[in-house]
Amino acid sequence: MKIGRVGVLGAGLMGSGIAEVCAKMGYETVIREVSDDLAKKGVSRIKGSMGKAVEKGKLEAGPRHAARSTLSTTTRLEDLAGCDLVIEAIVENLDAKKEAFSILDRACAPHAIFCSNTSSLTITEISAATGRPDRFAGLHFFNPVPVMKLVEVVRTIATSEATEKTVFDFATSLGKHPIRAHDNSGFVVNRLLVPYLLDAVRALEEGVGTREDIDKGMELGCGHPMGPLRLLDFVGLDTTYAIAEIMFNEYREKRFAPPPLLKRMVLAGRYGKKSGRGFYEYGEGR
Ligand SMILES: NC(=O)c1ccc[n+]([C@@H]2O[C@H](COP(=O)([O-])OP(=O)(O)OC[C@H]3O[C@@H](n4cnc5c(N)ncnc54)[C@H](O)[C@@H]3O)[C@@H](O)[C@H]2O)c1
Repeated sequence: MKIGRVGVLGAGLMGSGIAEVCAKMGYETVIREVSDDLAKKGVSRIKGSMGKAVEKGKLEAGPRHAARSTLSTTTRLEDLAGCDLVIEAIVENLDAKKEAFSILDRACAPHAIFCSNTSSLTITEISAATGRPDRFAGLHFFNPVPVMKLVEVVRTIATSEATEKTVFDFATSLGKHPIRAHDNSGFVVNRLLVPYLLDAVRALEEGVGTREDIDKGMELGCGHPMGPLRLLDFVGLDTTYAIAEIMFNEYREKRFAPPPLLKRMVLAGRYGKKSGRGFYEYGEGR
């Protein structure tokens, strides 16, 4: 199946990155956000990211201009009606995702394929809100989307082979390296990564080391490009908390349980880089 027009639900951290790579590869891309302000914020994030790519010599001014002209925004779900593929990247909340997909299911053409970028919810459960579980798959990108090469393509027991192939080929057309994963909470990467990140918070909580020592330990001792607490700030502590809760409910294993410190930080509004403060502080001069 040929994909021409792509819809992206949500213009947060992930949605804006996904829309950026789709537009750069020439797909006509429509972003849906809940308000004009949030849509504008998403577009300015995309402009900033493309600007940086131009500065680094990774994108030329001509293709950047072309990419911008293929991008549009809306606050109406119904405006995604003409899309061949819709990628959802809204908050990690099952009810919110199901509600959005059930509206889209009525609005979009029968051939359209739906994908969720969820990190921890089961694709099967989200797809149950639609009448097209055979044309529903997981398409899990990594942050920052324009930079990270991996995409997990998730097939449920209901996803058709043709849908999996179309989604896999689409991911490849974005310049990504897709891998296939089963529809288990966390797929491949988060199943391994989330317990590690949560353990780093526990280590801080228990006074094993300072935030700097924990991060430096993993950077210099294991060759990780970024320590776990800094990485948590980039992923978003609110998003990680939601992911841990979902994975704990799925597996009932302690290693997925969100530590109290993570919950306290979310309650205090310290979501990480996106809110200006998490384990570290962000902003002017920091
Ligand atoms: N942050 C990460 O590193 C990461 C990585 C991979 C996958 N994910 C997944 O991607 C999804 C989004 O995460 P994020 O980090 O971009 O979150 P975010 O909080 O940065 O952005 C979510 C955006 O969705 C918008 N939104 C909420 N309801 C909406 C709706 N009905 N229609 C359109 N927009 C809506 C919000 O206004 C917000 O701008 C989650 O499912 C998350 O698990 C996140």
